[in-house]
Amino acid sequence: MTDTLTIAIDGPAASGKGTIARQIASYFELRHLDTGSLYRGVAAMVRDQGIFPTDGDAVARIADSLTIDVLERDDLRDAGIGNLASIVAAHPQVRESLMQWQRNFAMGGAVLDGRDIGTVVLPDANAKLFVTAEIDVRAARRWRELSAQEDIAYRTVLDSIEERDRRDAERSTAPMVHAEDTDLLDTTEMSIEQAVAEALRLVNKQIKAA
Ligand code: CDP
Repeated sequence: MTDTLTIAIDGPAASGKGTIARQIASYFELRHLDTGSLYRGVAAMVRDQGIFPTDGDAVARIADSLTIDVLERDDLRDAGIGNLASIVAAHPQVRESLMQWQRNFAMGGAVLDGRDIGTVVLPDANAKLFVTAEIDVRAARRWRELSAQEDIAYRTVLDSIEERDRRDAERSTAPMVHAEDTDLLDTTEMSIEQAVAEALRLVNKQIKAA
């Protein structure tokens, strides 16, 4: 069963979905793809090449040329790249360009995390979670991560996450949404260990019910 298992984990910025996805993948011995890194990779190339992020066709050409080595860049987690990623991710032609990449990765079983995995990329996934947490908790988590690398104020992180959440939820193509067929996991009051344990319980419940 494990070799054909696909698991979709969506949610807003700094909700804990990446850590949960990695640990679920390790539990089921599946590969894991952080799909945000694809959009972050495109954003980094857009910035390097001085392309206007609002030019959807030019950004889609960058997405078409994306190679795996870009995903190894160590500037992908910078706050500026996160914001630029959400701007380039709103173009339908960019999302289309990255779609096959993600589906190919999922073939044979995988855990993917992102914003539209359960709704658009893998609508038939065996298990789907939407991981969230209150905004101030998410901002504090992200501020702790970022301030280890760069000098950044908590307020800047909070504003940037709010803006990104709004952009991701309001875009017309593949908006971030908690879909009805997806279990909600609110990690506001949870430690990482508790969140992972609860995520595993929900995933196992969905797999058994299928
Ligand atoms: O780690 P964090 O949740 O902050 O962000 P991320 O998952 O790395 O995603 C960065 C940005 O890429 C998001 O704000 C979205 O705009 C975009 N994204 C998307 O549109 N669809 C996905 N499946 C994954 C990310």
